[in-house]
Formats: sequence, C-alpha cells, structure tokens
Amino acid sequence: MGIYEHNLIFLTSYYGNGDELESPPWVSDTMGGDLLIQNAIMVLPDGIVEGDLRVTAGIIRSIAPNGGLEPHLGELVIEASGLYLIPGAIDPHVHFRDPGNPEKEDLESGSRAAAAGGITSFLDMPNTIPNATSRAELEFKIQLAAKKTVTNHGFFIGATATNVQEMRNVEGMDGVCGIKIFMGSSTGDLLVHEQRHLEDIFANTGGVIATHAEDENRLRSRIPKFSHREDIAAHAECRDVECALIATKRASALAKDHDHRLHIVHLTSGAEADWLSLNKGDLITTEVCTQHLTFDQDDVEELGVRALMNPPIRYTEDRDSLWRRLKDGTIDCVVTDHAPHTLESKSMGYPNAPAGMPGVETSLPMMLTHAMNGKCSVSDVVNWMCAGPARVYGIKNKGSLIEGYDGDLALVDLENRRTVHDTDTWTRVGWTPFAGKELTGWPIYTIVDGRVVHKREIGGSLRGISLARPGSVGSVLRFESVP
Ligand code: DOR
Ligand code: ZN
Repeated sequence: MGIYEHNLIFLTSYYGNGDELESPPWVSDTMGGDLLIQNAIMVLPDGIVEGDLRVTAGIIRSIAPNGGLEPHLGELVIEASGLYLIPGAIDPHVHFRDPGNPEKEDLESGSRAAAAGGITSFLDMPNTIPNATSRAELEFKIQLAAKKTVTNHGFFIGATATNVQEMRNVEGMDGVCGIKIFMGSSTGDLLVHEQRHLEDIFANTGGVIATHAEDENRLRSRIPKFSHREDIAAHAECRDVECALIATKRASALAKDHDHRLHIVHLTSGAEADWLSLNKGDLITTEVCTQHLTFDQDDVEELGVRALMNPPIRYTEDRDSLWRRLKDGTIDCVVTDHAPHTLESKSMGYPNAPAGMPGVETSLPMMLTHAMNGKCSVSDVVNWMCAGPARVYGIKNKGSLIEGYDGDLALVDLENRRTVHDTDTWTRVGWTPFAGKELTGWPIYTIVDGRVVHKREIGGSLRGISLARPGSVGSVLRFESVP
C-alpha cells in the first residue's frame, strides 16, 4: 500500500447501505494502524492548534503543532484541512441489548452506531437478557464483543441482593468497568433498594459503583396514583425530582460511610446537581445525558414516547442547572444512556411504551452543535466526552491527544450543518430523538487504534460507511482503580 492511495480503499466498505459485500477489502486488515493526519485543527489538552498527528502501530507517535510531518511508506495519509481532530469519544453508559434483544441492538450494530457517532470506546450496562450478574455472564459478553465490535469495549456487572461474591469475582478483571446498581426499577428486573443489601454491596466490593438513583419506595407509592394519566407530562410528575434526590443522597451517604467510589449516572435535576456541588467530595463522580442538556418539557410534549426515559426529561430550569453544574465541574462527563427500543414497542403509547432512546450516533454532533451555538467550547466537549469518562473509570491512555496515548480519534466537520433523519442511523431500531435537528460536528473519519472504522464524505450520505470487519478492530478495556 503506497501513500495517498486511501481513496481507493474508500470505494468499498463492509457496510454501505446495510448490505455486506462478498469480498470486502478490509481496511483494518490492510492498514495496520499506521496513519498520518495532516493540517488538522487539533484539540490538544492545553489548546487548539493546527498541525499534523502520526499514529504508528495504533499509538499516537507524534503531534506536530506546526505541521511538517512527512509521510512514511505504507502509511494512510489523511489531508484534514478544515477538520477538527479530537480524541475518540468514550461513552460510559450504553445499553446494547446483547444478549437478549437483537431486534433492538446487538454488540455489532451498537458498536457500528457508536463509531458512526465518533465514539471509539463504550461501557455497556448489565440489563441484558439474561442480566450480566455473574462472572460467567461477563466472560460471555466479553467474548461476544471480541467477535462483534469495531470499537473498544467494557461492561458493568449488575448488582442483585445476593451476588456480592460474583461482584468480587470480577473485580479488576479486564473488560469489567464497575458495578451497576438500579436503586429504582427501570427497564428489566435489576433492582437493589433495601438498605441492608445496599450496605452489603458497599461494604464488601471494590472498584466503581454506578447507581441509577431513583428511590424505589417513592416510585411504588406514586406510580399507582398516576396510573390514570395518559399524557406524557405525567412521567416527570410521577418520577419526580424528589425520587431522584432521595436516592442520590442515599447513595452518597453509603459511599462516604464505606469509603467506596461512587458514580451517579444520568443526573436529571437541578436539585441533585446543586446538592452534589456541595457534597460530592473526592469519592463521588457524576454524569449527564446529552438529551437532558438538550430537551425540556416542551420537547417531551412534541416528541411524545420517543422522549420517554428514566429518569425523565424534566424542566427548562433543570436543564439550565445541569449546564451550570457541568460547566463548574460538578458534573464530570456527558454520556448517552443509549437505550434503544423499537418504534413498534414505543407505539403502545404512554404509559405502556418502554422507556429509553438511542443516542450514540448523535451525542457528539449534538454537543458540538451546542458548542458552535455558543453554549460551551469545543474543548469543553472534548473534556466532557473524552477525557472525563477516562478519568472517571480509570481508562489509561485514552481520551486525550497526547503522544503515547492510543490512536483513537475523530475528525469532525464543524463547518457544515446537516439535518438528521431516522434513515441516517445505524442503530438497529432505526430512529433518533434528534430527527429533524440541524446538527454540525459530524465525524468524517472515526479511527480506532489508527484504523478508520467509519467514514463520511462532506456533503455525502449522512449515514456514511462502516469500514471495519466485526471483531477486527478495538480491544477490551482495562480499568485502573481511581483513588
Ligand atoms: O430509560 C431508560 N432506559 N432508563 C433505564 O434506566 C434503562 C434504559 C433501558 O435499558 O431501556
Ligand atoms: Zn441507562
């Protein structure tokens, strides 16, 4: 393979319009992770500069702020003038439904969708079928991911009232990022809400505990009172701020009592974010979803069950507070909670439709659109979606453009705005809650270990093409303990 020949490679792909080619020329097999990106606008940890970046054998070998890196023989060369080069995003909160619900997603479709959205590493939640609550299930998922994904990947073990020993058995295991506790019921049947069981888990496990913080007792007392309501506004009234705040305070107290790392997933309310700003300390981290930063009660009214999720999309003032607490550093990262459900299952309407929405393909463009609209800076987005998740989960050598770090990258176009439609998506459910929005920041190249896994042409198909054979790129993630 000579230099400047990359256009030949992009004539064919693994998936174009969803059809597998018979003898695809595997980009990942031919390129070996050697890559030179020239004239990109590079978002480095200490500023934005134009220049070149070289990846050798999958590792960022050199960063040249003034450019001038000469191509080596055998390297893929990308002339990136006008494109922003950022670290590949790390999404620490996805539900890829594998095993159990392949009609909604599996590790292959979810990982391709992630790559299409500039996400090069994901952490998958345990409410699959069966639930991932044992070492055997985790080993199975990790083996599956090695065969099916085109990105880096890690998995949560789900907590039950009785599986402390299983949680201890996976502690420190490659590919296991932490423990997920559903403190309130949501999709699936994972639930731990009794104090003695929560104490047992916090006292006898290590690593990161990630909690879905909604109070089960309050949910149980409120859901029957709202059962006559068929208007979707009832959702946020029923699963109210108090439900979330009670559980957030309770999880925080457990973390402090047992000196245990805690990550509170998807904050939705100003009350929780304000309380955490005063009480978080060093043990606790937290996250917010793109949709909670973007939508409010009016969007819920307009989008209906597409915007139904747990915890709910709340009110304008909550959205504003979440932005404020993200900017002041209380909230550590921005995630998707990619939770695909088919439109057919959604068609049951409120309150019977399942809660959750897809997000991995649109999160980075949506956040970069917020940046271009003046809500925040491009460096903020990189901090929240790349460096932040790496810090929270102790993922080494990812999330920043630094020499010696892994060659996981996205080259995004911040000049053009494109309206996204359901048909532009890779998720198996084939829809997005952001349909109809005009977004910028679409990844033109998504790169894992120096290999191009997803490609768009500026002005071409917004769906783009997926270029890697399942299992040929990406690795199981390793997690260091975070003090
Ligand atoms: O809305 C949600 N959907 N919240 C959750 O906690 C789970 C998720 C899902 O798996 O569908
Ligand atoms: Zn979730």
